[in-house]
Amino acid sequence: MGKSKFYLIFTLSCFVFTLSSALLQTIPALFADCLVRNSPSADIGKLFYPHYSPSYSSILESTVQNLKFNSSSLQPFFIITPYNVDDVRSAVICTQNFNLQLRVRSGGHDYEGLSYKANAPFVLVDLVNLRRVSVDLENQTAWVQSGTTLGELYYQIGNRSQELGFPAGTCPTIGVGGHFSGGGKGTLTRSFGLAADNVLDAVLVTAKGEILNRTSMEEEVFWAIRGGGGASFGVIVDWKIRLSPIPEKVTVFTISKTLQQNATEIIYKWQEVAPELPKELFIRLVLTIGKDSQGNTTVMAIFRGLYLGNVNSLVSLINKKLPELGLATKQCQKMSWLESILFFDRGLRPGESVSILMDRNRLYTKGFFKAKSDFVTQPITHEGLEEIWKVIKEGDSGVLILDPFGGKMNEIPDSETPFPFRNGTLYSIQYFTSWRDPKPEVEMSKMEWINRVYNAMTPYVSMNPRTAYLNYRDLSIGMNAFGKHTYFSAKLWGEKYFKGNFPRLAQAKAKVDPFNFFKNEQSIPPLWLNI
Ligand code: FDA
Repeated sequence: MGKSKFYLIFTLSCFVFTLSSALLQTIPALFADCLVRNSPSADIGKLFYPHYSPSYSSILESTVQNLKFNSSSLQPFFIITPYNVDDVRSAVICTQNFNLQLRVRSGGHDYEGLSYKANAPFVLVDLVNLRRVSVDLENQTAWVQSGTTLGELYYQIGNRSQELGFPAGTCPTIGVGGHFSGGGKGTLTRSFGLAADNVLDAVLVTAKGEILNRTSMEEEVFWAIRGGGGASFGVIVDWKIRLSPIPEKVTVFTISKTLQQNATEIIYKWQEVAPELPKELFIRLVLTIGKDSQGNTTVMAIFRGLYLGNVNSLVSLINKKLPELGLATKQCQKMSWLESILFFDRGLRPGESVSILMDRNRLYTKGFFKAKSDFVTQPITHEGLEEIWKVIKEGDSGVLILDPFGGKMNEIPDSETPFPFRNGTLYSIQYFTSWRDPKPEVEMSKMEWINRVYNAMTPYVSMNPRTAYLNYRDLSIGMNAFGKHTYFSAKLWGEKYFKGNFPRLAQAKAKVDPFNFFKNEQSIPPLWLNI
């Protein structure tokens, strides 16, 4: 059957429910046939899951982090779980031959579910079987496949050397593919930059079905996939990363302060001090609702730190720079960097082994959630902080997570990668609210709260445009209109994520995917200038 007949079938396939059951049986068979033709070693029974397959639902739901999208009706026709780069290439070619769209999923943590739902007929390529990590101790590098979780990556690095780490996110179930291609920040970012800053090479499958590495892809494309969001450019299968030298033992601490315990003053000072501290020290600030000693509602400020050094030098550093925190030796814990991953994520439980980092199913904390983000370049005034406390007290489960920048981030130019929030950015803010009850009214009240706090922050955050972090994806800042992916409409949301780097991303897109096969609600459209 010729290609054009497939197009005809799949133009009609928007109305899949009206297709005869005979056709519904035939199309998967034809698709499977295409996969084998393009990847002869493919074991179809192990990687191809049509809608009627018994495993379809469990695979689809397996890594959905935001349960808001778990029961989405926008489900894929087929799920493909490749075992190697040829299977990925074959999936890309066949999806185009059948005139379907493609979504690629690594860890499934996309805040808006863009990796596993689409409002057009589509194929889901789930990289769950691509999880190889090869550490090269001599050169302090590693190759890691996209379907690996951060926990699996961290464990396999730490297992080979207690003096090597990697600067990426704090949640161990995040997938490497989405995280690296969207930036990737965490406790080591002040010391070594983003995950994307430490990518040395990558293997990319393009819309044409080419398998490219850093040398064979254009340097502009290599630039784009390190922070510009991989889903606009192709499927990244493998990443070569630079590992970071860390001490065998690090020091961590958590200190909580209520408003009655002088939190406003300490937070005000934290804004100035945390981005200026030596790069070995990272102090995250989490703001949430809490109770004071009398049981009254208050704002709780939780300071959680990681220091690449010993307890004594940490205590003396804090006592010099931020004595108001009152950090004492007994509040500090010495541990391996791998243990610090669990400490930051969920608390280190007594007797728990770090090998749990290899067990994604035990680490998942799935729920319903919504998040938004900002970057801050000027300390928020005392009056501003007081305003924000009022809104925080109105919520019941929302948090604001403030991550200081500075250190290594200040040394990297805004245009080095698509992530433009470098020198001059004091900290990022993530507004996050979650819930367990699926009733629409619960979701509505959570959304109202997050919008209220976001609006209240308007005078204090970076503006023109008001910026956001791609990895905290937020479709409410703008998206491509259905079927219309133009550069000028995408610029409205694109400059919020990428500022002046947006046009360059659109030009890189034109080089590698000029006909815009890889697209979604917030993908970069091609810009045909200076190519
Ligand atoms: P997922 O598989 O959903 O992919 C996300 C996007 O990338 C989608 O558009 C997808 O199509 C695309 N993509 C995925 N794999 C690809 C590939 N191989 N090639 C091309 N495109 C690909 N961030 C952070 O910087 N620091 C942090 O500490 C945290 N913490 C955190 C905690 C929790 C609980 C969540 C849910 C999220 C975070 N994040 C974060 C945000 C996280 O970095 C972001 O959601 C990443 O995009 C997730 O990558 P996954 O591969 O898991 O997502």
